[in-house]
This record gives sequence, structure tokens and C-alpha cells, in this order.
Amino acid sequence: MKPTEILMNEHRVIERALKILNIMIEKIEAEESINLDMLERLLDFIQTFADKCHHGKEEKILFPTFEKYGLPKEGGPIGVMLMEHEIGRKYVKMMMVFSKLKFGDKPQIKIFIENGKGYVQLLSQHIMKEDNILFPMGEGLISNEVRIKLMKDFEDLEEREIGKGIHERYYHLIEGLERELGIN
Ligand SMILES: [Fe+2]
Ligand SMILES: [Fe+2]
Repeated sequence: MKPTEILMNEHRVIERALKILNIMIEKIEAEESINLDMLERLLDFIQTFADKCHHGKEEKILFPTFEKYGLPKEGGPIGVMLMEHEIGRKYVKMMMVFSKLKFGDKPQIKIFIENGKGYVQLLSQHIMKEDNILFPMGEGLISNEVRIKLMKDFEDLEEREIGKGIHERYYHLIEGLERELGIN
């Protein structure tokens, strides 16, 4: 197994979260009521699984290794990916602020929708670029020894950031939301 395969598997789960977010946005736009507890769980997934763990592994472990083995950071794909992580964080921050406020307020709903849509669009194409361009490029530069080290570092980060076994809980969180929304 390659370290980027682990991250690509996580991409598939993040894409399911993006689909859920999209459905929630559509409901809000159609003025249907949404379950705020579900939205809170989804935002927890986005902040913890997608950002802290997944982007954490890329920023702290994978990208620096790719850089070490010859992929330039500035002016190259790594720099673009890092910038997109930052833009994503701004969208999430805005979604968090407005999800915590009263949801009856029209201007606030509008801001939530705009940031939610921006996030879905940004992250979908970000994932595509990593899967198809950056990851294959970087994998071509590293040895099996480096791969093993990367995977060990991924595990350590995960344990440090969220604790052992919590990762699984986030897969179940997404399954639960899909079930509640009647998708898949
Ligand atoms: Fe990324
Ligand atoms: Fe990623």
C-alpha cells in the first residue's frame, strides 16, 4: 500500500461529506427545515477528519517529504494545495459562525450558503488535483522505505491529534448522516 492510497481513501469519505453538505444547502435554499444537530455533526467531521487529520497529514508529513525529494513548494503544486487548504479553512470558519447563530435570519443563511457552496467547489477540485497530479508526481520520487516511514508518521499524527480508534468513528458519522438523509 502507498501512503497516497490512504489519503485517496480519505478523499472518498470527504467527497461523501461534500455530497451531504450539498444536500443540506439545497434544503436550506428550498426553505425546508434542516436538522441543526446533523449540520453540527457534519461540521465536526469537516473540521476534525478533513482538516485536522487529513490536511494535517498532507501539510505536516506528505508535502514536506515530497519537497525533500525534489518537488518544489513555491510556484509548484504543493504551494497551490497549501493555499487551497487555507481558503477552505476560511469557508469553514464562516460556516461555523453562522451555523451557531439563529437560523431564521435571511442574511446569515445567505452567507452560510455562499460559503458552503464555495467549500464544496473548492474541495472537489482540490481532491481531483491531488489524486491525479500531485500524488502520482510525488510517489514517483520516493522509495519504499520512505513510504513505510510516511505511513507510520500518518498513524502517529492521527493518534496525537484525535486519539486511537477515533478515525473509525468519523466513518460511522458519515454513514449515519447518509442514512438519516436517505442517500446511498
Ligand atoms: Fe489537500
Ligand atoms: Fe487531500
